[in-house]
Amino acid sequence: MHHFQYRNNELHCEDVPVSRIAKDLGTPFYLYSYATLRQHFRAFDGAFNDVPHLTCFAMKSNSNLAILKLFALEGGGVDIVSGGELYRALKAGIDPKKIVYSGVGKTSEDMEYALQSRVLMFNVESSQEILLLNEMAGRMGKKAGISIRVNPDIDPQTHPYISTGLRENKFGIDIRNALEEYTRVSGMRNLTVSGVSCHIGSQLTRLSPFVDALKKLKELIGKLKGIGIGVSYLDLGGGLGITYDQEEPPHPREYAKAIQDELDMKDVTVILEPGRVIVGNAGILVTRVLYTKTTPEKSFIIVDAGMNDLIRPSLYGSFHGIEPVRVTCRRKIKADVVGPICESSDFLAKDREMDSFETGDLLAIMSAGAYGFSMSSNYNSRPRIAEVLGKGDAYHVIRTRESYEDLVRGETIPEFMLKDDDRPPTADR
Ligand SMILES: Cc1ncc(COP(=O)(O)O)c(C=O)c1O
Repeated sequence: MHHFQYRNNELHCEDVPVSRIAKDLGTPFYLYSYATLRQHFRAFDGAFNDVPHLTCFAMKSNSNLAILKLFALEGGGVDIVSGGELYRALKAGIDPKKIVYSGVGKTSEDMEYALQSRVLMFNVESSQEILLLNEMAGRMGKKAGISIRVNPDIDPQTHPYISTGLRENKFGIDIRNALEEYTRVSGMRNLTVSGVSCHIGSQLTRLSPFVDALKKLKELIGKLKGIGIGVSYLDLGGGLGITYDQEEPPHPREYAKAIQDELDMKDVTVILEPGRVIVGNAGILVTRVLYTKTTPEKSFIIVDAGMNDLIRPSLYGSFHGIEPVRVTCRRKIKADVVGPICESSDFLAKDREMDSFETGDLLAIMSAGAYGFSMSSNYNSRPRIAEVLGKGDAYHVIRTRESYEDLVRGETIPEFMLKDDDRPPTADR
């Protein structure tokens, strides 16, 4: 359920006509619904009310400060994967004691910053990372709480690029070696064992892989107990899928029930790291048709948003619904919706049946709230676009469109290149 609905044939974000925002701000832009974000967070978090838990929003899916603030106000924490994400989280007012630090390639600087900030725990992913964290914590006179991210070798049955819990993936420590690794950690002066964690993949539409992973984690926790190592946290990662097209993923309520039925542990706090399921369908990308073009093979609808703004279709072949901002009664055609980028992979939809859109029409690219803006770039020297939050009958710009000056900020031409001597000789020299 989301708050992007038609009224009098006009797409609205809550009570604001999307066309009004486009008229005021220009296109393209990301548009999020406040009520949807809050409702999704509450539905997810509330589904775990019967067990001690902490919902740590996976901010890689959407790291806008206003959105993080909303979740902070709801009592949520975050799952971070870089120093930059930590900076954003703290700026948005997330309690450091609700921050878990995941990621396979933390640098010593990242560790130092997170130790200084007193984050709840580090989800560590290799023996070498464990050694470095122990060294860094020692140098700073601190103790770091750790949880080993185990790789349980479970097929999440999702796109290979977003599958993370298989032995062939780079993530985590093989669950078969986890006991040995925990034993080593328990002998390290500057580390304390806080928990066990895993994240098996993203956009999962079935419950069984989550339950299978939990079974393996429980077995590991039992073995750890047997050798005197207790854990306070069981971090199950994120990954619950959403409907982009025809998918029918479980509701967070069903997900929570499946987890709780299997959990059977009273003395651990469950940590959840949902991203997509909270923000995915709470955001759209609004774009305008620049041109249409028909060749003997195909029809193209060329819009002002490109793969630099929303890379998911190019990267994963992902489906995003494409809806008119103002409903028309035009005939249907089959077309590719493409952007202005100089790459053939720059498309938002391929061979899709849709209205025969015309120049100037506004389109809504649906389900774009997760891994949309956060994966956007300046490719083709395109300024990154605005992000807007709709709430009731008002809207708020929560990130302004970048300018050309923003594009070159930080770049310099070395002095020697500005000197005459370095110019090629000309005929009259
Ligand atoms: C460690 C970790 N936690 C949580 C997530 C969030 O996944 P999702 O957005 O599918 O819920 C990811 C996504 O890649 C992740 O790597």
